[in-house]
Amino acid sequence: MLCLGIETSCDETALALVRDGKCVESVLATQMDVHALFGGVVPEIASREHYRFLGALYDELMRRTGLTLADVDVVAVTRGPGLLGALLVGVAFAKGLSLAGNKPLIAVNHLHAHLLAVGLEHELLYPLLGLLVSGGHTHIYRIDAPESLELLGHTLDDAAGEACDKFAKMLGLPYPGGVLLDRLAQRGAADAHLFPRPYTHVDNLDFSFSGIKTGVLNYMNSERQAGREPNPADVAASFQAAVLDVIVAKTVGAAVDMNKDKIVLAGGVASNSRLREMLQTECKKHGIALYYPDPILCTDNAAMIGCAAYYKYKAGGISDLDLDAVPDLP
Ligand code: KG4
Ligand code: ZN
Repeated sequence: MLCLGIETSCDETALALVRDGKCVESVLATQMDVHALFGGVVPEIASREHYRFLGALYDELMRRTGLTLADVDVVAVTRGPGLLGALLVGVAFAKGLSLAGNKPLIAVNHLHAHLLAVGLEHELLYPLLGLLVSGGHTHIYRIDAPESLELLGHTLDDAAGEACDKFAKMLGLPYPGGVLLDRLAQRGAADAHLFPRPYTHVDNLDFSFSGIKTGVLNYMNSERQAGREPNPADVAASFQAAVLDVIVAKTVGAAVDMNKDKIVLAGGVASNSRLREMLQTECKKHGIALYYPDPILCTDNAAMIGCAAYYKYKAGGISDLDLDAVPDLP
């Protein structure tokens, strides 16, 4: 089954052709440089950029593969969560193709797609535990099958990526700062006692990262008042260690408690080198297999949309042409 996936939920315009859950070809136009000028994603600009790029990207995808709309079996699009205007551009484009080619339309939950992205590269055996860490979400899921996901816990304030981006901004790094923070932290020495590990011992799977951010602010201020300039690499390593200690402890703890022997990692922060290292070490200790996608499949992409749609279509999840974008899709 050849599925055309379309992703426009935030600041990446992406299309992919996915055959039976595996990527054939993908194209992507990032808007990162435009939004970086404003220090974050500007929704109105995002919508306009999607509108500007979608048609050309579609043509490029078909040119590269030598395929046409007639070869496509289903058209899939991100329905939410995301920015309303940005989502609407993709949904309208998908409806046009669905109508013009008389193809079934599949609406995909962006978060579920992130979690299934690992299946583009690995054969997964269910059930498993899913950790989604991105700019907007820090979620732990129980995944019994590709179409059966249950949210077990989530962040109560900042998402992990958001916390990293805000921290990077404090250090004067450009948006989005997560990748630069990752690199900077590799050169620093982490002090395990500098910042708190909130919610580590709480008896649920929720997270809270805003306290760590406040801890950093207080530390920087008090050091400067004492006439000392903190070493950015050391502060980055200590901040990252605090965030990752909590994520790793809660995720692996949940897998052990629930007797799950497989964890999948997903979302932009899943490409963090230290997170992968720490999770791998902890998983090994407990005999848990850890799966994570290639970094290109961690951030927003359309192959994951085509992959999720393949499973949804098989389960009968076809949408009508009155499909709406839902910015806060649960
Ligand atoms: O999944 P994603 O592309 O977009 C959302 O749906 O949010 O994730 C983007 C987030 C940003 O906050 C970015 O700073 C963070 O992922 N990120 C990282 C790394 N690469 C991307 N955070 C830490 N370490 C990284 N290597
Ligand atoms: Zn995403």
